[in-house]
Amino acid sequence: MNRFAMSLAALLLVPAFANQAEAAPKTRYDATTQTCRVLSDGPLEWESRPWGEGGKLFKEVCKSCHSHNNDKGAPFLWTESKSSDAWNRVFATRYPKCAKDGSWNGMTKEQLLELNDYLYRFAAYSQGVNDSC
Ligand code: HEC
Repeated sequence: MNRFAMSLAALLLVPAFANQAEAAPKTRYDATTQTCRVLSDGPLEWESRPWGEGGKLFKEVCKSCHSHNNDKGAPFLWTESKSSDAWNRVFATRYPKCAKDGSWNGMTKEQLLELNDYLYRFAAYSQGVNDSC
């Protein structure tokens, strides 16, 4: 690629990334509490606020089983394993066997909401998701 084509490509890419960042959902309608959750714009790191709590719970609770090559029979899960709507469905219906057998019971209602917020926000294709309330 010549110099001109490269700078042209760079110019085209910058706004594309900027738009993507803006298109992330800012709210999530929560069916379990019938409330509108406001999602804050935080850094992406799991450990840092304000995504810290949800991200930490995902890592410490869910990933204790849903890691690569685990011996618990749990499929590997990461935030992008599901779409935002699909994560909402996981928490609204609690269909997974692990939710029914008590593996989620160590968490409070508020923690479950924050975990759901986190997964909704960083789900597959979430950059294209609009505010849901
Ligand atoms: C004690 C281990 C354990 C923990 C902790 C655990 N899971 Fe699971 N989970 C499993 C196992 C095992 C399965 C597969 C069950 C089956 O055979 O259907 C499963 C299945 C699932 C499924 C269905 C599979 C799919 O791809 O749709 C989802 C979703 C899920 N878990 C989400 C979670 C979330 C979210 C958390 C954290 C709140 C969590 N799990 C915590 C063991 C666990």
